[in-house]
Amino acid sequence: MPTQNTNQKPYYITTPIYYVNDRPHIGHCYTTLIADVAARAQRMIGRDVFFLTGTDEHAEKVSKTAAENGKTPMEWATINADRFKEAFAFMNFSHDDFVRTTEDRHKTKAVEYIQQLLDQGDIELGDYEGWYDPSQEEYLTEMVAKENDYNSPVTGKPLEKRVEQNYFFKLDKYEGWLCEQIETGAICVAPEARKNEVLGRLKQGLRKVPVSRKIKEGDADWGIKMPGDDEHRIYVWIEALCNYLTIVDNDERQKYWDGEVVHLMAKDITWFHAIIWPAMLHALGKKVPEMVYAHAYWIAEGKKMSKSLGNFIEIDLLQAYAEKYSLDAMRWFLTTQGPLGANDSDFAHSRFIEVYNADLANSVGNSTSRVGNMFNKYFDGKVKGRCNGEFGFDNGSSLQTALTALENAGKKVDDPDRTYKIAEFTQQAVDQAGEALASMNLDAMLDAGRSIVRHVDEFISYSAPFTLAKQLDTLDDGEHALSSILYSCGEALRIASLLLSPAMPEKMAELWGNWNCNHLVDPDDCNSGFVAPLSELAQWGGEYGLKPGQTIEKGAALFMRADAKEDAPEAERIS
Ligand code: MSP
Repeated sequence: MPTQNTNQKPYYITTPIYYVNDRPHIGHCYTTLIADVAARAQRMIGRDVFFLTGTDEHAEKVSKTAAENGKTPMEWATINADRFKEAFAFMNFSHDDFVRTTEDRHKTKAVEYIQQLLDQGDIELGDYEGWYDPSQEEYLTEMVAKENDYNSPVTGKPLEKRVEQNYFFKLDKYEGWLCEQIETGAICVAPEARKNEVLGRLKQGLRKVPVSRKIKEGDADWGIKMPGDDEHRIYVWIEALCNYLTIVDNDERQKYWDGEVVHLMAKDITWFHAIIWPAMLHALGKKVPEMVYAHAYWIAEGKKMSKSLGNFIEIDLLQAYAEKYSLDAMRWFLTTQGPLGANDSDFAHSRFIEVYNADLANSVGNSTSRVGNMFNKYFDGKVKGRCNGEFGFDNGSSLQTALTALENAGKKVDDPDRTYKIAEFTQQAVDQAGEALASMNLDAMLDAGRSIVRHVDEFISYSAPFTLAKQLDTLDDGEHALSSILYSCGEALRIASLLLSPAMPEKMAELWGNWNCNHLVDPDDCNSGFVAPLSELAQWGGEYGLKPGQTIEKGAALFMRADAKEDAPEAERIS
């Protein structure tokens, strides 16, 4: 059984469900990766997590592309849903479920919700005239349409003026309530720029929104019919949003909706998630999400990715990077360099190499292999003794011994009074990581792990254990000093590896294999994968810490240095 911290609410994180008219690309993988890293980190701190992703299948563009490809909508949806599943397996995502909106479990519940809204009078029939963006299958307000010269803000293609008889959801009824929820942070819309945008638009006033489409002659038989009216289908967006609830709306999973709900997406679809969905939920008498987090976009080598430019970063390119530099290096790059905040990020090969070398090869990789090598060289590949991770400058201390060795070797110590409180440093880093995680600042969370590695590197340069090792015979307490220094480096890196693991689960598991830290991992725990919550795992020298006698194998370097000038890996283009 997973050891869970019962003081914390269950955590439910979702990604958008992706359209299956086409195959997945970097954008879809990115949002799902961010959700994966957050889910892994939340599990590690001991929370009961449910992570949902999936596909949105009833869109008109799915039936259109299916016809262009000589397939039925369902055949085409399945081909692409499978591509999403394969891509997500390749990315090593840890989702707990994958929903397809064509599944009965989703359809039945979605119809129930719409029926309830109809019964309550929150949805009713009426006429609608508006600017419709066929490429996005959504109506835009007059203001947004005008701002974009009556072209789609996403694809630039002309908008269509449409008049329809439709069912409408009385969104306007919830204007004041929504404003209050978002302003007070009851629904945390993040980052701040997105919150301001949403509030700005909200203050221009809300109108009722169409929630159905009249079925026209020649339309593919695709989508869910409006309950009680065979002439209308539920508008795909309204039905799709329901997935977040349909999949956990049962006895076993209800606790996740009652817990902390986080919806993750890019800024293109903030409005649906921050306004329409919470209003629907409120009308249904359900709790609303605690957080709606809308990140920015990936662009490619400085240019927006688009079909017309043909510059989408496809899965095959991500695979080529993973093959050359490891999957976890690619996950690391995307997570730390991606558009998690309000600004877009550029996927540029030169930047990849820079980050790979700086953060991984020269830092995590180098530090772990250096420390592993020293354990092997000086102590037969075994942890010798414990140390509390405090290095002061008292006479007779381990640090004093190390500095004496340096002086004996004729080397100068820059700041001879420097103290190192490594155990304290790692505890602070663990606390910082927890705070960063709570606000979805995943780069800062991972940087807490990286900061420990930097601290270890600095401590090694300062205490120079390799110089000390040469003088073991001449210094009284040389061996004890060396073992204390190495223990502290090893234990600090073990704690760092935990903080880095949500982004790099395979590489960190490789390190735990080499360092015989498998006692951290519980392969039968399908939730966190760990034997205890982080607060216990990361305790310096605690139950799960390095122990005297524990074997430290050198193992292969986790990341080989890359040549700054080497070309980008070639991807075989998918046809
Ligand atoms: N089906 C709707 C979502 C319904 S959710 C109830 C949809 N699907 S989509 O396939 O178009 O996916 C959009 C999402 O893909 C974005 O919100 C974002 O999560 C991800 N991305 C697509 N392109 C992206 C980038 N260039 N960069 C980052 N993420 C991007 O909208």
